[in-house]
Amino acid sequence: IMSATTISVAAPADFHVHLRQGSFSELVTSHVRLGGFSLAYVMVPIIRLTFHRIFLLTGPQPNLQPPIVNTEEALLYKAQLQAIDPTIEYLMTLYLSPDLTPDEIRKAKQSGIVGVKSYPRGVTTNSEGGIESYEVYYPIFEAMEEQDMVLNLHGEVPSDPTSNTCVLNAEATFLPHLVKLHKRFPKLRIVLEHATTRAAVECVKSLGSTVACTITAHHLDLVVDDWAGQSWNFCKPVAKFPDDRQALREVIKEGHPRFFFGSDSAPHPPDRKSVSSPKQACAAGVYTSPILLPLVATLLESFGALDKLEHFVSGFGRAFYGRPAADERVTLRKTLHKFVEDSWALGDATVVPFWAGKQIGWEIVS
Ligand code: NCD
Ligand code: DOR
Ligand code: ZN
Ligand code: ZN
Repeated sequence: IMSATTISVAAPADFHVHLRQGSFSELVTSHVRLGGFSLAYVMVPIIRLTFHRIFLLTGPQPNLQPPIVNTEEALLYKAQLQAIDPTIEYLMTLYLSPDLTPDEIRKAKQSGIVGVKSYPRGVTTNSEGGIESYEVYYPIFEAMEEQDMVLNLHGEVPSDPTSNTCVLNAEATFLPHLVKLHKRFPKLRIVLEHATTRAAVECVKSLGSTVACTITAHHLDLVVDDWAGQSWNFCKPVAKFPDDRQALREVIKEGHPRFFFGSDSAPHPPDRKSVSSPKQACAAGVYTSPILLPLVATLLESFGALDKLEHFVSGFGRAFYGRPAADERVTLRKTLHKFVEDSWALGDATVVPFWAGKQIGWEIVS
């Protein structure tokens, strides 16, 4: 339902979001609804085996929390999120690790856990415990296929100078693993998360109906130049070439049903995003939750795809995950007077959103 100045969409679903733990979680979990979304597919915090290394680089971490590796811990985490905002539907995941067993997969399925996320070892925030070879996980994938659970892939290989891999080709180099997994487990639903390249778009298109892809808001906006020298725009996978961004925009404009929205909104404390010493490393992650639906509407409008907004943020993702269509609707209004907040705070937690201080073309009215 659309006119020149308002647009209404069925309740948006964010199929990839980081809601953190502790006091940080209280701040960012309440931003899901503020950003216009009513479903959050939650990437659980992963084991912090990097603690020691991070400690050496940056000093003690303020919010060190217990790891979430099994069904019980994921359900406890879900209850914590529900206590913060009970109006959001939380879909929970587990993290692929050597601690998972086929029995745990069956237990997870019975408890309503929807998917399992795989992070290649060493690639992203705290992922040192992640995968380096998929074959050891084939019994897990068999159980997941049988239980109809979803495998969420962080599709990057680790950087390795000896094989000329780095952040710029990490995703394209990963794609053969996706193809191989799909051929070996054709009924297993797989989502290639946060795609950033034309190669990924073409690869997912070429595969069967059990393979889908999420696209973030920030990757529809950024290219390499925007994060090289601007740490707030730095995330993994990094934004790529203009032609890669173009491919992401085109597949949305085309209305391909296996490409849907997942924000990968990933908040970090400001002192982890902007570094002041050569001993520090900048945390990867762009934070979009509080401005999410207006941001996606503004971006889709900028490349002529506003008519695809509802399918992209609500319909396609729910369909792939077998979730019922939403009854609730959200209405946006075009605005010439809206600027993104500089930061958000609650207690001792502060976050700086993507597009801080920048003009945004849409606002939520109801
Ligand atoms: C894969 C494996 O061993 O299963 N290797 C890997 O993830 N590094 C090979 C593959 O999936 O192509
Ligand atoms: O930029 C990112 N940040 N990419 C990820 O995969 C993880 C995320 C985070 O948790 O900070
Ligand atoms: Zn990821
Ligand atoms: Zn993520």
